[in-house]
Amino acid sequence: MQLFIRPLDRVLDVRAGANLLDTLREHAVPLSHSCMAGRCGTCRCRVLEGRVLDAGGSLRAAAAEGEDWVLACQAVLTETCTIEIPEPDEVVVHPARILKASVAAIEAPAADVRRLLLKPAKRLEFAPGQYATLQFGAELARPYSMAGLDSDELLEFHIRRVPGGRVSSHVFERLAVGDAVRVSGPLGTAYLRRRHQGPMLCVAGGTGLAPVLGIVRGTLEGGMSNPIHLYFGVRSAADAYDLDRLYALCDAHPQLKLQVVAATGRPEPGMRAGLVTDAVAADLPDLSDWRAYLCGSPAMVEAMALVARRLGLPPAALHADAFYTQS
Ligand code: FES
Repeated sequence: MQLFIRPLDRVLDVRAGANLLDTLREHAVPLSHSCMAGRCGTCRCRVLEGRVLDAGGSLRAAAAEGEDWVLACQAVLTETCTIEIPEPDEVVVHPARILKASVAAIEAPAADVRRLLLKPAKRLEFAPGQYATLQFGAELARPYSMAGLDSDELLEFHIRRVPGGRVSSHVFERLAVGDAVRVSGPLGTAYLRRRHQGPMLCVAGGTGLAPVLGIVRGTLEGGMSNPIHLYFGVRSAADAYDLDRLYALCDAHPQLKLQVVAATGRPEPGMRAGLVTDAVAADLPDLSDWRAYLCGSPAMVEAMALVARRLGLPPAALHADAFYTQS
């Protein structure tokens, strides 16, 4: 039986019962992957013709709307089929690992945000925009995005206080410098696409600023010249944080434009009032050759994705890992 691979137009002779990701790796077909366990979504690809067996034991075929993604690390080949792999020239492979780390600093950039700086025992390689699971103790684990680059000495995370949340309460009330933290990752598909040459829209809601900072820094420090339009949406002016840092980046890099948008209350000088989705729609009428990176609450990401598509952004140019709001 055979496996046809779009858009590479490659044909492989394959064996029934083989794992799809293993097969692609054996034949040096580029596909981003990380956790190898069906958790991170990085290895997703589409079935265009034929069927594969998914992790749940169901046969998955092409969907009418073409939105039927399978996770290659969890899919088993059962018959001749055609798959489509995303962006073969934008592959990132940073195998997920578990690292020991210790708390180097805890800062309070806003009343309900903590910046956590961790010193890992070994360097964690990741692409800007990815996330990791932080485990602070038994039953105290949550995913958070890295705010920096993997060349930084410390790993930076932004943690928002969730009312009644076990993990955020632990971070706000009990976590101390020197405490051990287990870091598992990297995970996630909303990483910086380095080959894109057009303008970039980065939308951060609240602590969704963390991965967006990584993406912005990765672009600027990687020598990419793309115009970057960064929208930082917050509930009220008091929730905006790290503005000095963002203004300093804008001063040093004229290709970066920042809009801070406060949804409620009086905005401070230099901020705008209203919804971040409305601000984007008012400023950017045509996103057809853009890439967009969205990070924030699932509701914000969903609303922003709808607006971006209405403004002409191709679906494949939208990168979003909806941020986790649980405790
Ligand atoms: Fe397949 Fe993570 S590598 S889901």
